[in-house]
Amino acid sequence: MALLELKDLHTFFRTKKGIVKAVNGVSYSVEAGRTLGVVGESGSGKSVSAMSILQLLDGNGYIDSGEILFEGRDLTKLTEKEMYSVRGNDISVIFQEPMTSLNPVFTVSRQVSEPFIIHQGMTKKQAAAKVIEMLADVKIANPHIVAKQYPHQLSGGMRQRVMIAMALACKPKLLIADEPTTALDVTIQAQILKLMNDLKEEHGTSIIFITHDLGVIRQIADDVAVMYCGQVVEMAPAGTIFMGAEFSHPYTEGLMNSIPRLSTPTHTRLDAIPGAVPHPLKLPKGCKFAPRCKYATERCLNEEPEMIHVSETQQVRCFYPRKEDRHGKK
Ligand SMILES: Nc1ncnc2c1ncn2[C@@H]1O[C@H](COP(=O)(O)OP(=O)(O)OP(=O)(O)O)[C@@H](O)[C@H]1O
Ligand code: SF4
Ligand SMILES: [Mg+2]
Repeated sequence: MALLELKDLHTFFRTKKGIVKAVNGVSYSVEAGRTLGVVGESGSGKSVSAMSILQLLDGNGYIDSGEILFEGRDLTKLTEKEMYSVRGNDISVIFQEPMTSLNPVFTVSRQVSEPFIIHQGMTKKQAAAKVIEMLADVKIANPHIVAKQYPHQLSGGMRQRVMIAMALACKPKLLIADEPTTALDVTIQAQILKLMNDLKEEHGTSIIFITHDLGVIRQIADDVAVMYCGQVVEMAPAGTIFMGAEFSHPYTEGLMNSIPRLSTPTHTRLDAIPGAVPHPLKLPKGCKFAPRCKYATERCLNEEPEMIHVSETQQVRCFYPRKEDRHGKK
């Protein structure tokens, strides 16, 4: 049984202009001890689907339908008190910009010790000692000094490590990381990715890793969910996606072609996906990717494809999932 399973999740927002269907039938699963990479362009619903899991939605947002099964229990049916316990003990989250989550007026020690005091009933002294251990765990040098510092005294990479330490404090079964390395430079990014991989290996934590960067997914994910317009359009093991399998979604293909390669001379134009993601209030009829898809046919403009299994482990939402079948179209 998967640790977490999203089943046909619909999450909507009430706005003055109408109901924004940000997540429109998302299904994906996270296996125990594995990392699911969720990738897609801005606005595809990556964050909203992940925040639905913890019910951390903006005030105008709500889960309209679907199931979120965590160890077989449907989180959408829990009370606020039960959800509070899930957030503190079972599932943690880290965000792109740690400054929005760290309190500027408290020292690192004070913030990281909070979960130990609240959820594990430690004394302040016990918690402070545990904090030093956690900071060392996330490879912060001189943890005794850093523990006494305030967030603004730390570099971006250090703050992100502190966030990871906080998120792991309760030894969660699932860690949701929403673009945790986007604001960091490439070297620090690589260090944080390695750190997360090591923590997964050591503690067996499952991870949902959200990013718009397929290059990052390649470094961290075991399985991949590709999202477009509030839906998953392809789900497969990372090996299948990156090894150039027989089947794929044209959107995944476009994302793959837009990964910069070291061998690509800088003046060569990358084969990026033309056009832009449609506005959620103006979604096209038929396949939502059709206006940007170079293989679109008449059928694509009128009918919406379902997610289909092309193998035991790969699912694709396209009428022509076999690459060969779509040559020569349009
Ligand atoms: N509070 C809100 N009210 C109305 N619409 C919202 C709200 N929050 C998010 N949305 C819309 O939901 C859609 C999905 O947003 P989401 O934040 O999940 O995208 P994302 O894939 O995480 O993008 P990014 O890569 O930019 O973080 C977007 O069209 C966004 O505008
Ligand atoms: S269904 Fe048609 S438009 Fe949609 S991705 Fe497949 S080929 Fe492209
Ligand atoms: Mg996001």
